[in-house]
Amino acid sequence: MPAGRPLQLSVVVPTFNERGNVATLVRRLDAALAGIAWEVIFVDDNSPDGTTDAVRELARTDERVRCIRRIGRRGLSGACIEGMLASSAPCAAVIDGDLQHDETQLAKMLGLIETGSADLVIGSRYIDGGSADSFDQKRAGFSRFATTLAQQVLRVRVADPMSGFFMIRRDRFEQLAPQLSTQGFKILLDVVATARGTLKIVEVPYTFGSRMHGESKLDSMVALDFLGLILAKLTNDIVSLRFLLFALVGSLGLIVHFVVLFAGLEAFVLPFAEAQGIAAFCAMTSNFLLNNFLTYRDQRLKGVRILQGLILFYLVCSVGLLANVGVAFSVYDNEPIWWLAGAAGALMGVVWNYAMSGLFVWRK
Ligand code: GDD
Ligand code: MN
Repeated sequence: MPAGRPLQLSVVVPTFNERGNVATLVRRLDAALAGIAWEVIFVDDNSPDGTTDAVRELARTDERVRCIRRIGRRGLSGACIEGMLASSAPCAAVIDGDLQHDETQLAKMLGLIETGSADLVIGSRYIDGGSADSFDQKRAGFSRFATTLAQQVLRVRVADPMSGFFMIRRDRFEQLAPQLSTQGFKILLDVVATARGTLKIVEVPYTFGSRMHGESKLDSMVALDFLGLILAKLTNDIVSLRFLLFALVGSLGLIVHFVVLFAGLEAFVLPFAEAQGIAAFCAMTSNFLLNNFLTYRDQRLKGVRILQGLILFYLVCSVGLLANVGVAFSVYDNEPIWWLAGAAGALMGVVWNYAMSGLFVWRK
């Protein structure tokens, strides 16, 4: 890029184990964006295959290439958000690092934004001229189902809200960014749902290609994140995905508690206090492990930090239990309705545990 020429476009590329693809992608961008002042920002979540090294190797001789390396965090959406926030160009695009998206559409997409025809341009598989033929039947079915669900439930009027390929005016993105979820895969759906019809959206068709190197990171956890995102958007962001998962894990903990309590009393004939204590420990431990696995899987504790975290979690939950009982008592004092008092206590407990776990156990 000639010095002094204002930057037009930042291309953000989230990567996890894409070492074999980055050089090809930069070569293709170079061809597709001739005449445009662009840069590419790779956001790598500390890939074990050394993707960062491959990107830095390119960046040493090509100043258009930038590298953000994140440690201790995982997640496609979060990586895209961070990449876009690191951009200084008026437009930012997101494109996968595995060459499955069609970079030759980028110039056209930029044109649509620069002429004011769009604030957001989506690379779409599900309009005339686009396709996702490389999907196997199962994946195609899931994709269709998720697309319909998003369209119906969130009233998103976009043919391909699940696309991972899009370009947006950076000022508009920046307005939305504080409300976006960093968890999950569905950053575009989040952007469209959060904007609530305030963005001028245009879709351009493209063909979703096959992966050359490496493998897809989309798994069943990603499906869970997706459902959580839908719920969060439906409740106007009052309930976050993380909180929902935390509460879900808490409810499972209740089941664990009762099963262990029952076994302690019936099978091992323990005194009640002992059985209750053991049950509480089992429930807290399984809650901790499940939260580490699910709710906080993007910042999962590993090695010795698991043990540290577990001990802190016990402490947090113990105080949470006091808060729970305290609130339940005072509600019951005013209004002796057992289920109301119980529910108020439980809500207090889960909110406390959630807030304190975020502060002390999985802090970041
Ligand atoms: N930084 C970072 N962190 N990047 C990630 C992570 C992560 O945790 N997980 C995946 N990526 C990167 C991959 O390296 C790749 O460049 C891109 O995100 C897409 O990931 P894939 O694992 O290849 O996803 P996919 O091909 O199954 O899904 C794609 O198609 C979907 C449409 O069906 C993605 O573009 C989705 O966003 C899209 O919805
Ligand atoms: Mn892919």
